[in-house]
Formats: sequence, C-alpha cells, structure tokens
Amino acid sequence: MNEFRHLEWGVTIAAAQTEGAHDKDGKGPSIWDTFTQKSRKIKDGSDIKEATDFYHRFKEDIDLTIDIGLKIFRFSISWPRILPEGTGKINQKGIEFYNQVIDYCLLVGVEPWITTYHWDLPQKLEDKGGWTNREIIDWYKEYVQVLRDHFADRVKNWILINEGIVCLGGGYFLGVHAPGRRGIRNFVSSTHHLLLAQAIGFKELKKKNELRVGTAISCTKIEPYRNTSADRKAANRIDTLMNRLFIEPHLGLGYPDDDLPILKRISRYYKIGDIEALKTDFDFWGIQTYTREVIKAAWYIPYMGALPIKPKKRKIPVSIMGWETYSQGTQYFLERFSAYDPEKPLWLSECGMALSEKEDDQARIEYYQNVIEGMKLVLKKGVNLKGILLWTLLDNFEWAEGFVPKFGIISLNRKTMQRKMKKSAFWLKKYLSNIKL
Ligand code: NOJ
Repeated sequence: MNEFRHLEWGVTIAAAQTEGAHDKDGKGPSIWDTFTQKSRKIKDGSDIKEATDFYHRFKEDIDLTIDIGLKIFRFSISWPRILPEGTGKINQKGIEFYNQVIDYCLLVGVEPWITTYHWDLPQKLEDKGGWTNREIIDWYKEYVQVLRDHFADRVKNWILINEGIVCLGGGYFLGVHAPGRRGIRNFVSSTHHLLLAQAIGFKELKKKNELRVGTAISCTKIEPYRNTSADRKAANRIDTLMNRLFIEPHLGLGYPDDDLPILKRISRYYKIGDIEALKTDFDFWGIQTYTREVIKAAWYIPYMGALPIKPKKRKIPVSIMGWETYSQGTQYFLERFSAYDPEKPLWLSECGMALSEKEDDQARIEYYQNVIEGMKLVLKKGVNLKGILLWTLLDNFEWAEGFVPKFGIISLNRKTMQRKMKKSAFWLKKYLSNIKL
C-alpha cells in the first residue's frame, strides 16, 4: 500500500499565465494573446504581454520551487512558441527556451513535467476553425511529435490536455475564455476533436515506451439544491458534463449521452472508427478540483435545464473567484475515479485556493491542511494516489479574472517582478521538511 510519506510533491504552472515575452524570439500569437487585446474580456483589463515574466525569470522560480522542498515542476509548452503557424516550421528559439527550463530543473534536482496543451492555441489555427475543425487532430499530432522528438529524452512525465471541459466550455460554449466562441455546435464538435486529438497524442508519445503519459481532468463536486427528482436529474446532467464527458469516452464507455441527451449531437461529427479510437489507457489520471456547485432544475436554460445556485444565496462564503472553497472535493474525486479502476495511478495534478490581495494567507494553509487530511484518508482506503501538484507557485494571470485572484504561495509585485514567499510557502517548506524526516 502506498503511504503518505511516499507521496511526491510539486507545483503546476502554465505558459499563457506566466511566460510573458508574448512576441519574443519568434513566438506566434495565441488565442489568449488575441483575446486579452479585446476590451472588456478580462475583468481587470490586463493582458499577458509580460505575465509573471517566467520567460526571463524561470531560474528564480525553479530555485524557489526547490527551496520550498517541492520536487516536481509541471509547466506547459506554448504551442505557438514552438510552431508559430501552428504547424510546419519549428521555431528553434522556442525549443531552446524549453530546453533551458528542462535542463535547469534537472540541474537543481526538480523533475520537469510537461503539459502539452494548457489552452493557448496558435491564433493561426483558430483562424482555420480551431478545435471545431477536424484537421486539428493532425495539427495536434504533429505538435506532439515535435515535443516528443525534442524533449522526451529528458522529460518522463507528460500530461496531454489540461481540463478539456474548462477550455472548451469557456472558450467554445460560453464565450468567456479565448477564443470567445459560443454555442452548442462549437462545443460538441470541439469536444469530439479534442478527445480524438488527445487519444492520438497519447499514441505518439507512447512510441517511446518509457514515457508516462496522462491527462488532467477538471472535477467539480455537484449536488442537487433540493431533494426533488427534478433537481437530482438536473444535477446529474451537470455532473455528466463537468465530471464524466472528458474521461468516459477514453475509458471505452462512449459519450455519456443517456445522462445528458444534448451530447447525442456529437454523433453528427463521428467518422467510422472514432469511438474505438477514443479509447486510451492513460498511465495516470490527474485530478484537479477546486469547488462545489449546487444545482436546481430550470427548464428555461437551454440544453442543460439546470441552474447553479450561487454560494452567496446558500449563505456560504465565496473566494475572490466567486467560488465556494471546497477542499473535500479532492478526497471525493480521488475515491470516485479510483472506482473506475482501482489500479490506475492518480495524481492531484492541481488544487489550490484563491485569495484577494488583502486576505490573510492563513486560509490557504488551512485549505492545504484539509487537502492533506483527505489524502491520508484515501490512502488508507487503498486509493492509488501518487502525489500532489499545487496550484500554484506564483500569483499569476487567472484567465478572464485577470490578475486579481491570487492562487500563489508566492506573491508577485507586478511592477518590480519581485517574488516573495507568503506565509503558506514558509509553512509548506517546514511541513515538507518534517515529512522527510
Ligand atoms: C485550473 C486551470 O488549469 C488553471 O489554469 C487555473 O488557473 C486554475 N484552475 C484556477 O482557476
């Protein structure tokens, strides 16, 4: 049985949220570069031209990681930094940048993990339809091959696509994330293509046997508002969308369209062999969870017939994200995913809490203490949990919310770019040094 002290600890960051250097050294524009230029899309009006300047300060951030005692550094690759046009000509400067990040991790003794896609699609590909265009399966395959050929000699752990439901739900259904598209047609087509692309990406990486290749799944605890059949069914539809759609097709279970009938529309985009092609036996699953939603039946809401009841209305405090902080979700989802396959190695590949500039960081310490209790409990129950990657190292660009929510255990002064460990970072450092004793 896996023991708590054997768990591995690390941190997750993402390119668009941290790198900056948006047009430096041959990088092409991503959909997030474009989206942040449009007025009123980002709450505080910020852009990502500089972000946290990881591009120039990666060594400092990796030093901080190791100083705290975290041994895994999961970062994402910016597709348009490697392939400015999305396909075709490789930008050598982009390859060099990630080579430096990887080599520096290895030099100081942190294990680099790569996320291939954390939402920053090349704008050139979006211009051709982005995820709604079936050709993206080949575009993504080519991109993954380039990454494998350049980085797999040193990077063993890979996560293909980060949180499909969030990037497509936000970007192709609700229009609140890049590229800002809306509508059910965009959503169902992009979903099918993204899952097929991920399945092909897996095969490409596994041509190198020794690689461990997984996916990162966004999970949101869903509960019915009232104990009525209508609310239970509505909650089940949202649960299907949020927690099952992006994993069950890979498990060979097909699309969960009995529980969410609108998904039947995906079949319009099927080609022969697709359902079989989706099956993917990942080496591990990454669970990422933050919050809980309470759902009420609402016939007038298109496609879903469901409405989330805001935490405020439920008299529950909200974080600066407007979310209920729900550390219990980590335990719940680890057990739930373990039930699909008790042998499958699981990671908490993201979890964290947002605070405002002014709030006391003590709340974050308590949040992580609760997560830790949950991890201990699931290990006792035999869940095959391997480790935890925190979201996140440094306060950074929180997508449509801009720079206002602070998820980091390290603060960032955006004028001077100075990094400063918060109370939670000092607490974690001490905590980790004690576990190792
Ligand atoms: C999950 C996403 O992967 C990450 O990019 C985001 O910042 C955090 N959740 C917090 O919302």
